[in-house]
Amino acid sequence: MSRRHSTTEIKEVRTSAAHRAEPSSGVDTIALRGGRRPDPTTGAVLTPIVQSTTYAHEAVGVHKGHTYSRASNPTVSALEEALGALENTPPAVCFATGMAAITTLFLSLVKAGDHVVVSDVVYGGTVRLLNLVLAPLGIDATFVDTSEAKNVEQAINERTRLVLIETPANPTLKLADVEAIARITKKRGVLLAVDNTFLTPVLLRPLDLGADITVYSTTKYIEGHNATVGGSLAARDAALLERFRLIRKTLGSIQAPFDAWLTLKGLKTLPLRIRQHSRSALAVARFLQGHPKVTKVYYPGLSEFPQHELAVRQNRGRLAAKRQTENADSETFFGGIVAFEVAGGVDSGVTVMNNVQLCILAENLGAAETLITHPVSMTHGDVPREQRERTGITDGLIRLSVGLEDPADIIADLERALAKVTAATTRTARTSPTGSTRRTTTVTRARARQLA
Ligand SMILES: Cc1ncc(COP(=O)(O)O)c(C=O)c1O
Repeated sequence: MSRRHSTTEIKEVRTSAAHRAEPSSGVDTIALRGGRRPDPTTGAVLTPIVQSTTYAHEAVGVHKGHTYSRASNPTVSALEEALGALENTPPAVCFATGMAAITTLFLSLVKAGDHVVVSDVVYGGTVRLLNLVLAPLGIDATFVDTSEAKNVEQAINERTRLVLIETPANPTLKLADVEAIARITKKRGVLLAVDNTFLTPVLLRPLDLGADITVYSTTKYIEGHNATVGGSLAARDAALLERFRLIRKTLGSIQAPFDAWLTLKGLKTLPLRIRQHSRSALAVARFLQGHPKVTKVYYPGLSEFPQHELAVRQNRGRLAAKRQTENADSETFFGGIVAFEVAGGVDSGVTVMNNVQLCILAENLGAAETLITHPVSMTHGDVPREQRERTGITDGLIRLSVGLEDPADIIADLERALAKVTAATTRTARTSPTGSTRRTTTVTRARARQLA
């Protein structure tokens, strides 16, 4: 026989430790259960979608915490708690898009006359925001190669308020040493924000390494299913979070409740997905590295990657933290993004992108489906050519977001597309990054399975 619960009993359910993940829980537990509790009014295990614009006040000045959905919304708040649990912060602040989060970051912390330092390889939308919107408002940006911490130190001046780094950088995967840069920003009294969209708190924990703010496009791995656009900002400083909420309410850039609900659903499997994305990306990177028509492969998990050591040291997210106590020898994960160039430059790159069948030629990354992107004509078209050329975003660069399909199928698809690159271009001299000449190989499906 069912019976109705009293309000006191409901309160007990809400706060019951049995329904909570602890900060010391494994990352799979936290992603699935952290910051979540059954709905206090119905017991629904999934947070309901509260699709209400406004909320009744019991009396003037007396309400249950939400007043108007531009300021806050219960479903969005549930996502904010879950993201906060994952990063061990107070509830995060969620936005309609990643760019809304980045715009809020700048408008919250800088004003006319201020200066910011930004990684020279960042998402193209961030460059567009700085050059086309913030520069005319009197906010100057210096783009520096943040793979060398000393470049950040040199770029900071008395007007600098904020340093924003992206690691691995989109799309060349260049890394920044967060701990070393945080030491500099602390010494100089400047805030450090890290766009951690590529690795997520599962693989990289910038706030534990001394950063002040983390930035996410939740559109990518966090939601992970190509179903929403969204963004978030996290911090441990309550005053910063309050400022972000004020600016979000003022700009009107909060996430919609249905998108927050879908993101809550995606978040549950984030660590599982990151493990598989990483394993498949490593297999794909190794295949590309051994392919005669591929001239360059960028993947931090390859031992030839110039900053491989830093990737091994820095990718100590929660997957690694739990692992250390259980099995010190278990694998390290490097994320799901691989970039590469094909012999013959842009024409060959275009041939590959136009001939894949399983990989989808599209913008976005971090979703279940494998997506192949041409940064110069798609995501980074607004980055000035001179900046692109200086930072290795060549016309022939291809970015691959390795998805959750069977990795052997992804490799076979790439092999088919690479076979379409003409013989003339394949005669180009080919050497690996270590200088050894490559053997021409035909990857059969069986071989693709072995590589995967
Ligand atoms: C690293 C990074 N940050 C921010 C963004 C912007 O996010 P959104 O597309 O959700 O606005 C992107 C988008 O590709 C990105 O790759």
